[in-house]
Amino acid sequence: MPLMRHIFVIGIGAGDPDHLTLQAVKALARTDVFFILDKSEERQDLIRLRRRILAEHGRPGHRLVEAPDAERDRTTPAYATAVDDWRVRRADLVEQLAVEHLGEGETGAFLVWGDPSLYDSVIAVVDDVRARGTVAFDYEVIPGISSVSALAARHRTTLTRVGRPVQITTGRRLAEGFPEDVDDVVVMLDGRAAFSGIDPEGLEIHYGAYLGTPDEILVAGPLAEAAPRIRELRESARERKGWIMDTYLLRRSAD
Ligand SMILES: C[S@@+](CC[C@H](N)C(=O)[O-])C[C@H]1O[C@@H](n2cnc3c(N)ncnc32)[C@H](O)[C@@H]1O
Repeated sequence: MPLMRHIFVIGIGAGDPDHLTLQAVKALARTDVFFILDKSEERQDLIRLRRRILAEHGRPGHRLVEAPDAERDRTTPAYATAVDDWRVRRADLVEQLAVEHLGEGETGAFLVWGDPSLYDSVIAVVDDVRARGTVAFDYEVIPGISSVSALAARHRTTLTRVGRPVQITTGRRLAEGFPEDVDDVVVMLDGRAAFSGIDPEGLEIHYGAYLGTPDEILVAGPLAEAAPRIRELRESARERKGWIMDTYLLRRSAD
């Protein structure tokens, strides 16, 4: 009977090395081989954080297998199809890595930024590979501190108000308008400051960029007043660092 292979999908937090949970630290220490899918646009800061985490918490003798990640077609308007196609190509890649580098009875791991449940495809990809059945393994997801949790904590606020829902969405969706049926909306993946394009009347913003890092930017206040300041801060930060990663909560003020 062959020994089972095991894969961890480990949430590593949103930028602060101290975001790592004890569960993540234990999983890191049990891993024989880390799979790193190199993204062409990956930020040096993220690479540095990953290296630091592996140096501090990886077990002696752990292996690192790096491969260029499948590229997504960002030019097509068919967003969902492009993402599906990308997932298939990533599954091919992960399958190949597992076949070639994960021995019987060994443990492999993927490190995921923030929490793997939010706008990340590693769980879906690992699931696909397992369903293909070429290489048998079981897998486990270790939750991480998401940028959304970090945002709420840094602003010392909550995402939900008593008995009310919150919606997590993208900048692309927000650009179509503030959702009708909720009063609290968290926006991620917003490359174009979509908060600037909506009617600010009655809205407050809790904004965070580079959360958990030394470059962190926090702004809170009525959207009408805060929006110009945030635009200025994010533009100068983007110029200085070459990239920006931000998340914000938009809240309809209580009447
Ligand atoms: C591909 S998603 C991954 C989200 C991640 N799984 C999480 O739990 O935060 C990337 C988006 O997460 C948000 N994000 C991630 N890290 C962040 C940080 N340190 N500060 C602000 N926003 C962050 C940004 O909205 C960014 O566009």
